[in-house]
Amino acid sequence: MTTSPTATPATTPAATPGVAPESAQSGQSAPVTVPPFAVISGAQVQRALRGREERIVELVEATYRLHGAGDSVNPPSYFLRFPDRPTSRIIALPASVGGGVRVDGLKWISSFPQNVAAGVPRASAVLILNDHDTGYPFACLESSIISATRTAASAALAADRLGRGRPRPTRVGFFGTGLIARYIHTFLAGTGFAFEHIGVHDTSPESAAGFRTYLEQSGAGGVITVHESPEQLVRTCDLLVFATVAGTPHVHDVSWFAHHPLVLHVSLRDLAPEILLESANFVDDVEHCLKAETSPHLAERLTGGRDFLSGTLDDVLSGRTAVPADRTVVFSPFGLGVLDLAVGKFVHDEVARAGELHVVEDFFHELRRYG
Ligand SMILES: NC(=O)c1ccc[n+]([C@@H]2O[C@H](COP(=O)([O-])OP(=O)(O)OC[C@H]3O[C@@H](n4cnc5c(N)ncnc54)[C@H](O)[C@@H]3O)[C@@H](O)[C@H]2O)c1
Repeated sequence: MTTSPTATPATTPAATPGVAPESAQSGQSAPVTVPPFAVISGAQVQRALRGREERIVELVEATYRLHGAGDSVNPPSYFLRFPDRPTSRIIALPASVGGGVRVDGLKWISSFPQNVAAGVPRASAVLILNDHDTGYPFACLESSIISATRTAASAALAADRLGRGRPRPTRVGFFGTGLIARYIHTFLAGTGFAFEHIGVHDTSPESAAGFRTYLEQSGAGGVITVHESPEQLVRTCDLLVFATVAGTPHVHDVSWFAHHPLVLHVSLRDLAPEILLESANFVDDVEHCLKAETSPHLAERLTGGRDFLSGTLDDVLSGRTAVPADRTVVFSPFGLGVLDLAVGKFVHDEVARAGELHVVEDFFHELRRYG
């Protein structure tokens, strides 16, 4: 592996003098070149993204708009499950995004919840970026950070845009305090949210204590309260973040939401469908979200229809749908592969610009069709 000495153009992978025998032979004018293949570590990903919350939220918004305009391909995620390890899974998210990003690819992300007991993060992931013109993969990136970043950026964007008609929240509550909760807090703080009170509830006291320590060290301020009671957390917060690993709803009481909070339902399966039916519901993508036993999926089953949905986040960004200020608002994002691609391509271009791409020489070795 070598460090690439040259910077890469912002929107296309760097092209080496690869091989173009077919186009040359067929007389086409544009040469086809195979891009070099780079491996980008988690440390490089983190350096490229750290402290750039506002820039990443803009990128995520632009990608939602591309997706909403149809300039993307985002088929259903594929869930690989194991009969002998029922709580674990690996998900494949293939996608293609157009616009100025113009890249195809695949996120391959595993969730092994038992890792947490050993102090190892639950999720691990890689992201493969494929060249738009040749289809050749040109980068493999550590992607648990990219995944957490795009999820948190999407949550911060939703908190801003779905909350514009109501007072800025001052009391935030976190249900579930793992890596995703930490990233969401970082993105909220990094995009201008300031909280007087931060409430925390987790079924694991160790996780809640670890999150409290993170909050204290983050310097974000605010009085921190660890709630034993989920009801107290809901009732005392005007912005709620669900980032648990619950597989079935554990919050059922509609009356807890009488003060109409804004809810970022990132973990998708925490709220009983009855709560959604009393709320204005926004998703990232309707077809994606009404699957896999999510709370919106349960609400669809219960009612036999989709009338309980108010729209997508893109409907709100584009001004097609208004958000009520006098109802509970729930955002349930399934998590789109196009967001991983957009953030991954951003990271690739930043690392290339810094001249720090670790190119694997001769990764693709059979490059002459006829030898
Ligand atoms: N929608 C998206 O785009 C998206 C993207 C990434 C992750 N996620 C989801 O976010 C969730 C959190 O991910 P993570 O990596 O932070 O997980 P994690 O395992 O690090 O943390 C989850 C925490 O939730 C706690 N918990 C479990 N059940 C709970 C309950 N009923 N009440 C309160 N706390 C509870 C656990 O004790 C743990 O501390 C996962 O469900 C993951 O699938 C969603």
